[in-house]
Amino acid sequence: MSEQTIIGDESLRGVLRPDFLVAASTASYQIEGAYDQDGKGLTNWDNFLKDNPENGNDAVMSYKYWRDDVALLKKYGMNTYRFSIAWARIKPLGGKDDPINEKGIEYYSNLIDELLANGIEPCVTIFHWDLPLELDKRYEGFADTERLVPDFVAYARILFERFGDRVKYWITINEPLIYTLCNCIEMHVDDFPESKYVAYTRSILLSHAKTVDMYRREFAPKQGGKIAITLNMDWVVPLDDSAEAKKATDIGVNHMFGMYADPIYKGHFPQTCIDRFGPTLALSEDEWKLVKGSNDFFGLNHYSTSYATGKLLPYETATPVERVFGLIETTVEKDGVQIGPRGQNGHPTQVPWGFRLLIQHIHNTYSKEAGHTLYVTENGFATLDEGKRPLEEILKDTERQAYYALYLREIAQAVRDDGIDIGGYMAWSLLDNLEWTGGWAPRFGITYVDRSTPEYKRIPKDSAFMLQRVFKHMIKDK
Ligand code: NOJ
Repeated sequence: MSEQTIIGDESLRGVLRPDFLVAASTASYQIEGAYDQDGKGLTNWDNFLKDNPENGNDAVMSYKYWRDDVALLKKYGMNTYRFSIAWARIKPLGGKDDPINEKGIEYYSNLIDELLANGIEPCVTIFHWDLPLELDKRYEGFADTERLVPDFVAYARILFERFGDRVKYWITINEPLIYTLCNCIEMHVDDFPESKYVAYTRSILLSHAKTVDMYRREFAPKQGGKIAITLNMDWVVPLDDSAEAKKATDIGVNHMFGMYADPIYKGHFPQTCIDRFGPTLALSEDEWKLVKGSNDFFGLNHYSTSYATGKLLPYETATPVERVFGLIETTVEKDGVQIGPRGQNGHPTQVPWGFRLLIQHIHNTYSKEAGHTLYVTENGFATLDEGKRPLEEILKDTERQAYYALYLREIAQAVRDDGIDIGGYMAWSLLDNLEWTGGWAPRFGITYVDRSTPEYKRIPKDSAFMLQRVFKHMIKDK
């Protein structure tokens, strides 16, 4: 698949709304570096990867080269930038009574001003996994709901106070489930009973809901922005017609997604989650009042799709990934045939039809009734080219372009044929950046970063311009 399939298709011309957000996404720990500069406090990730040679200490030095990054967005014709704020830059120690770091405020304030001066809308993720380490030390972060939530809300308040006049799109928390996976299971692998998993879920839902409540009461009336959580869902379909495979699929969807989307949209947890976690998952009546309805739009991160085999796995021996899928076994092969072509590192597999099914699921289950617009806050493709291919080939990134073409066509068709309201698309990622514990090998960027040069030279890949051409075709003229 190439962009021609879209650009050459007249029936896809102008199907997206004129105010469609076209963006690239990043996250603070993955790009900023300067981990201990200008008063920033240490975070859980600074600590977790401190002895790992592949860490975010320098990342791709966006803390220094942020103007260049804004210039890239501008060059790619993007009208929005999704980035996250490092809590520990704003409040080095993190707690509600701890001091503010004005240098951190200044950094993000300058970034926001520069974006706006270039006609680029900031979309801010309040929490993309980098927790001030001090809060982990004081009370184990998200494991202590009573203490975490007020600290989270107090931190969010500062962002609304300082940046809310200029930021109109807010995302409270990025991918709660993967946060729980990486930050809890991976960081505390020997000590992560199900009770902690439940505590994290409660902390996430309540931090989100109380932040939204505060924003709506105190800030939105004057500032006029929108706020939501961003959920990840890699779609699952049953491997065969067996009742076991269907049940496992249901569990997978509920655990990855329904665990957060059902409370927010329906005011209760999915039955399969209640069955597994029992009454410990419960929220009080007052808490439910805050959680239900606490989204202004639907934020979705999506990469791939797999089959559920029907086999269920025990928690204690399951891998973190299996736990995330709700303890279901998944595979990407059926009768010896791959579900879709894989990237060089096998991540992700390209299954555009799975993306479409997921978009339809969201529409039918949540967003249609709520009248919500869906924003794809992440979607993208990793390659393992570094050191393995000549730079010229890396910059051509034909596999990434093929992936984008396939997935973007599904978006256009979902809007045109299914009548689904999709308001934006944010490619992951603006830059080749640090893929958490995956290190530097998987490269998701539409911009190559040469980390052997002192200035961490940024070189656009062809996919960046391909996105620009495809969106130009698909977005209706104003
Ligand atoms: C999800 C996360 O939000 C982001 O931080 C990560 O790098 C990408 N997906 C790719 O795995």
